[in-house]
Amino acid sequence: MNKLAVVFLILVGFFGVSCSQGASKESGGENNQNQAESIVEQNRKNDSLVEVDHVHSASDIPVLTPEQKQAYIDKAKKVAKNAFDIFSGHLNRLFKEKHPAEALAYCHDNALKITDSLSRAYNVQVKRTSFRIRNSKNKPTAQEEKVMEIYREQIHKNLSPKPYMHYDVYGKPHVYIPIMVQEKCLMCHGDPNKDIPEVINRKLAELYPGDKAIFFKKGDLRGIWSITFPKKKQAN
Ligand code: HEC
Repeated sequence: MNKLAVVFLILVGFFGVSCSQGASKESGGENNQNQAESIVEQNRKNDSLVEVDHVHSASDIPVLTPEQKQAYIDKAKKVAKNAFDIFSGHLNRLFKEKHPAEALAYCHDNALKITDSLSRAYNVQVKRTSFRIRNSKNKPTAQEEKVMEIYREQIHKNLSPKPYMHYDVYGKPHVYIPIMVQEKCLMCHGDPNKDIPEVINRKLAELYPGDKAIFFKKGDLRGIWSITFPKKKQAN
């Protein structure tokens, strides 16, 4: 185990609580054949739609085979899953122990530290963002906004948003993974009058006066993982 991994594990072990879970939930697997085909077709169309940044020099950018693209997506999913496991382990424990305000406070203090330590451990840049953010440090870029817009359109049409890989404006491989809202997220991201306990409403007002990450419903797109790889280095 290298030094970074050790630091990472210590950090993770140290956090008593998790806050936000970047559930990288994909299709769900129950799509029928027709739906699967229309998703493939839709994604093909989106491949051209999704490019809002323009790379200056196309000769810089290697043409990837579908397998090479998939290798990046697989690595990004591994990072997201790692975060998911950390967060959901902590969340489940907290729900059992009924410490919602404490969970929120830890989240406030540690969410960005967790993504930073994952970035170091995997040698990638890990970001979680949303079209309705809680922490302004998670603000999306124009490209990320565009990707989320497309994912939301897909959900609206009953399609399952899929992870997507492209080269960003700096020629770096970049993977986006949809984050879906689950039941357990509502306690901190749902309707303040119905889903969010009063103690959390109070704490949210105190910690995040400009909070926009509420009124989500189960099955909505919450945001995306946005994972950037070092330039021209293959995943694996
Ligand atoms: C205990 C409360 C709590 C729960 C439960 C929770 N979150 Fe969060 N979430 C937060 C807080 C607090 C932040 C802001 C963290 C920060 O300051 O960086 C946040 C931030 C996020 C962000 C980053 C974008 C932004 O708005 O700043 C995403 C994405 C996110 N949460 C998704 C989820 C998902 C998906 C779930 C459920 C699986 C979930 N969260 C459950 C408290 C929670």
